Amino acid sequence: MSTVVKTTIGEAKHHFGETVTIGCWLHGKRSSGKIQFLQVRDGTGFMQAVAVKNEVSETVWEAASRLTQESSLYITGVIREDTRSKIGYEMTVENVEIIQISTDYPITPKEHGVDFLMDHRHLWIRSPRQRAILVIRAQIIRAVQQFFDERGFHLVDPPILTPSSCEGTTNLFHTKYFDEDAFLTQSGQLYMEAAAMALGRVYSFGPTFRAEKSKTRRHLIEFWMIEPEMAFVDHEENLQVQEQFVAHIVQSVLENCKKELETLERDTSKLEQVKAPFPRISYDDAVKFLNDNGFEFEWGEDFGAPHETAIAQSYDKPVFITKYPTSLKAFYMKPDPERPDVVLCADLIAPEGYGEIIGGSQRIDDPALMEQRFQEHELSKEAYQWYLDLRKYGSVPHSGFGLGLERTVAWICGLDHVRETIPFPRLLYRLYP
Ligand code: 4AD
Repeated sequence: MSTVVKTTIGEAKHHFGETVTIGCWLHGKRSSGKIQFLQVRDGTGFMQAVAVKNEVSETVWEAASRLTQESSLYITGVIREDTRSKIGYEMTVENVEIIQISTDYPITPKEHGVDFLMDHRHLWIRSPRQRAILVIRAQIIRAVQQFFDERGFHLVDPPILTPSSCEGTTNLFHTKYFDEDAFLTQSGQLYMEAAAMALGRVYSFGPTFRAEKSKTRRHLIEFWMIEPEMAFVDHEENLQVQEQFVAHIVQSVLENCKKELETLERDTSKLEQVKAPFPRISYDDAVKFLNDNGFEFEWGEDFGAPHETAIAQSYDKPVFITKYPTSLKAFYMKPDPERPDVVLCADLIAPEGYGEIIGGSQRIDDPALMEQRFQEHELSKEAYQWYLDLRKYGSVPHSGFGLGLERTVAWICGLDHVRETIPFPRLLYRLYP
């Protein structure tokens, strides 16, 4: 019986000098006639395995020669430290056991167009770059959970099928719920407000759907949002949680994903500066800044991507734009008591042109004002009776926010487009694969 250890590429660093077996795929191959350099991958990483003709049996040499891109195999050999290798070690091959020979793998080392790659997304995610992005995405999710778990928040799951809207009715996905009408959730916030009244500090992490006819590098139809909601927390305290939260995520990726950031050739010098506190600029001052810098922008308009980018360029860190006009924002935001034409809200704009990653606010807690907003926005009181109850039975000041996961991944990874930030993106004209 063989006693060879079965391990992974990632764990092989603990087996220098030992013979191990690794289940893997062939990523690429070079041959000098007498030596075959096999680049193998197993999900945990990429490693070079070297087969020397004079040192292996003819059968093993032939098996190695037959391997094509993405063939699957068990490879056995000695792990040797090698300082020239990116991972610090490689394998000297002793045995190759083919599981399946892959023929005509469609993604070759040559350049492919975006549409071709998107049609083959199920295979594209095997590439070193796409793997690095998905590993960083997973690390961001880990950092999110760690941040909230360490601060006494409870994870709460709001529903995905809902009877009414949260962020306005223009971009809802409609479906039938037996005989009733239903919509896919645009935000779990209203339910999270109910949960905060029960558990104090809560957060959700789930899919969000927006039927937006926007074909931009920042818009997905289905994206994932993290939505904390906190009882007895005001606007200013809400901003403090946000800056600590975002700084924690960035620092956690810098610490735990060095190799992946290298694979993406991400310049991390700006990310290293992302520590609390973040700068704040009011909507009023942002309007003034834009007009002083060549834009024609009127108070009351909403910022587009070029405006956000221009504002963000003045800062090295993410910047909060606070207190937007009441008319621009959602019905539930609390007006500034000193100036009711603006609300106690903030959008957090990422540096380097990545745009808004967080939207948040203090919520209206006064029942009379909430009723007034329902009339102004022509919302059905019957449909939202449960939400109005929250202002009737022990209403308290409370605040929360939503962080878009994919825009955060795009920023931290330095990607041009959100389509690479999620395993299977849902875009305006893409539902496949
Ligand atoms: O600003 P939004 O619409 O806020 C809300 O939905 C609030 N109810 C959140 C809350 O307070 N609990 O969205 C929040 C974030 C945005 O800043 C952005 O990062 C992301 O969600 N986002 C999108 N990401 C990708 N594609 C889209 N179409 C997005 N729309 C919003």
